[in-house]
Amino acid sequence: MNILLIGSGGREHALAWAIGNSPLCDKLFVAPGNPGIGQIARLADVKVTDHAAVIAFCKAEAIGLVVVGPEAPLVAGLADDLQAAGIKVFGPSKFAAQLEGSKGFTKDICAKYGIPTAAYGRFTDKPSALAYLDAHGVPIVIKADGLAAGKGVTVAMDITEARAALDDIFSGRFGGAECVIEEFLEGEEASFFVLTDGRNALPLATAQDHKRVGDGDTGPNTGGMGAYSPAPCMTQALCDEALEKIVKPTIRALSDMGHPYVGVLYAGLILTKDGPKLIEYNCRFGDPECQVLMMRLKDDLVTLLLACCDGTLDKMSARWFDDVALTVVMCARGYPGDVLKGTEIRGLEGAAAMEGVEIFHAGTAEKNGMIVASGGRVLNVTARGATEREAQARAYAAVDRIDWPEGFCRRDIGWRAIEKETSK
Ligand code: AMP
Ligand code: GLY
Repeated sequence: MNILLIGSGGREHALAWAIGNSPLCDKLFVAPGNPGIGQIARLADVKVTDHAAVIAFCKAEAIGLVVVGPEAPLVAGLADDLQAAGIKVFGPSKFAAQLEGSKGFTKDICAKYGIPTAAYGRFTDKPSALAYLDAHGVPIVIKADGLAAGKGVTVAMDITEARAALDDIFSGRFGGAECVIEEFLEGEEASFFVLTDGRNALPLATAQDHKRVGDGDTGPNTGGMGAYSPAPCMTQALCDEALEKIVKPTIRALSDMGHPYVGVLYAGLILTKDGPKLIEYNCRFGDPECQVLMMRLKDDLVTLLLACCDGTLDKMSARWFDDVALTVVMCARGYPGDVLKGTEIRGLEGAAAMEGVEIFHAGTAEKNGMIVASGGRVLNVTARGATEREAQARAYAAVDRIDWPEGFCRRDIGWRAIEKETSK
């Protein structure tokens, strides 16, 4: 079967790597892809926002399955348009993608189905938002409604910060002027991934990422500075609880609304003393969590993705290598602020040849035969190991082989898991 993968990040490089290894995959096309992906798949010159062009490409290349990596095309309805054209697609409809696209939509489902989450209020005008804030006090969490690339959330520890966040939202900085204000939850965070065909749920492995830019989880939030799988804090009992109390009712809710969710559902959880609570849904794989999941997946990814599209997920299981996988994100200096682009990166082949190591490209470009940085998050240096410590040591040994003076990374990815490993 010929497959088209949509996206250009490290997540898509990892997906391309897993899809390309499948015996079911004949030709793999990726639109738009990146230079790393270009080494293992064909880059397709088709504009992803032009749905008619994507459909025409699928027909011309006899594409049997489209896999959508990022959220934006899903929220824009790419899956709906492909499906209407009779093309099989892994990824939810525009309606179902509101689970990520609209915090208010998700919160209302949680309320209706009794899904554990932070208490909240939903506001479209500033005076009511301020009144709620005054009634509840700090710490409190303020979220812009709509996609804000992880930058629409303020965890406010003091009232001035909280008010400033509301000023930002109601000045229209994030597009709309709508927000959710919610209770501050305390506990460790974990990412929980589930494949679904709209009726059945197949849990994948767990992962944890590091959102803050600096060592020790300090500094501003980012798209993710590194990740590892499994997440030691997610015991089997907690996975079962999250599946039964959070994910399954959500899948039922979408199905009840007449819009069954097909794809991967990514639940961001906080493990509170009262059990796991939902902080957000994403309608896609996490980036960089996907990179570590793909390193550990023993079964064929394409078989699993097709079972989601075909409604046969109840007949599937997913097996994982016992190894730990860990990825370090290398960023261009300045990230998550303005970054310097076009700087050359050397030594990638030597680093990628190290035992247990895969290097997934994110924001890279090719220029005169050189690999250069073209974004904020640039490389995902990923390694497998028997233990957290071994995976971490391998990943950083590979990082140190890469010659890129204008790049940086955190030096402590996996610290929580290693601390747990050490105290065993
Ligand atoms: P989100 O984009 O909703 O995942 O939020 C970004 C980050 O803000 C999360 O990864 C958490 O660290 C933090 N956060 C979000 N909601 C809450 C909450 N209710 N309580 C505490 N921290 C939160
Ligand atoms: N790593 C966080 C995310 O993909 O949203």
